[in-house]
Amino acid sequence: MSRLIEIRNCRRTYDNGRIIALDDVSFSVDRGDYIGITGPSGSGKSTLLDVLCGLEEPSTGDVLFDGSAVRGRAAWARLRSERVGFVFQSFYLIPSLTVAENIELAMLWQGVSAKARRDRVEDLLERLGLSGRSNQHPLQLSGGERQRVAIARALANRPELIVADEPTGSLDSRSSGEIVKLLEELHRDGGITVVIVTHDRDIAERCDRRVELVDGKIVSDTRRPLAVEISA
Ligand SMILES: Nc1ncnc2c1ncn2[C@@H]1O[C@H](COP(=O)(O)OP(=O)(O)OP(=O)(O)O)[C@@H](O)[C@H]1O
Ligand SMILES: [Mg+2]
Repeated sequence: MSRLIEIRNCRRTYDNGRIIALDDVSFSVDRGDYIGITGPSGSGKSTLLDVLCGLEEPSTGDVLFDGSAVRGRAAWARLRSERVGFVFQSFYLIPSLTVAENIELAMLWQGVSAKARRDRVEDLLERLGLSGRSNQHPLQLSGGERQRVAIARALANRPELIVADEPTGSLDSRSSGEIVKLLEELHRDGGITVVIVTHDRDIAERCDRRVELVDGKIVSDTRRPLAVEISA
C-alpha cells in the first residue's frame, strides 16, 4: 500500500499551550486503509482528523499529502475540495437548500457543468437509496437519511479519502448500521480510503486498522489480521 498522508511529530496546543490536544504525534494513512480512531472524550481524536486534512494547522510538525508538505489555507482548501470527502456527526447540511442543491454545492467549486452536476446528483441519490428525495429539504428527512445525503455530498467530487467524525453519533442503531455498511462498501467496492472517529466499539472492531488515542498520544495502532481463504 502506498502512503497517502503522513503526520510527522505534530503537536497541537490551545490556550497558549496550556491545553495539549495532540502531543508529538506521528501517524500515517496508507491508500486503501480503513481506520477507526477511538479514545476517551478529549483525547484528541477530532483534532487528529482535522490536522490530517488541514482543517487545523499543527502548532509544530508537518503534514505530508502524497509525499509533499501542504502549507497554507488555500492549498489545503483546494486539496480538500478535490480529494477529500467529509462526514460529521451533525451532518452540516444547509437547511434552506434542497437535497440536490446540498450535494451540488460541493461541485460548484470545481466548475462542473450544470448538466454534469445534475447527472451526478441523480446517480448518487440512486446509489444511496434516496431517489425521489432530491427536492426535499434536510428537515423533512430522518437522521439516517440526512447522513446519507451528507455522504452523497462527500462523494460528489469522487474523493480518494473520506474522513468521518462520529458519523453515527446522532443516529439510532438501525440507521447507524446502515451508515457503517455504506462506508464499508465505499471502501471495499469503491477503493476509497476511510478514516472514522468513533466511540462505538462495534464500529471500531469492524475496521481493518484501529488507532487509539489517550491524552493526545497514540497508545496503540493495530491492523486486523487479513482473513485467510482456505480452499478445498
Ligand atoms: N478550539 C479549541 N479551543 C480550545 N481547546 C480545544 C479546541 N479544540 C479542542 N480543544 C481541546 O483539545 C483537546 C482534544 O479535543 P478533541 O476535540 O480533539 O477531542 P476528542 O477526542 O475529539 O473528544 P470527543 O470524543 O469529546 O469529541 C480537548 O481537551 C479539547 O478541550
Ligand atoms: Mg471529537
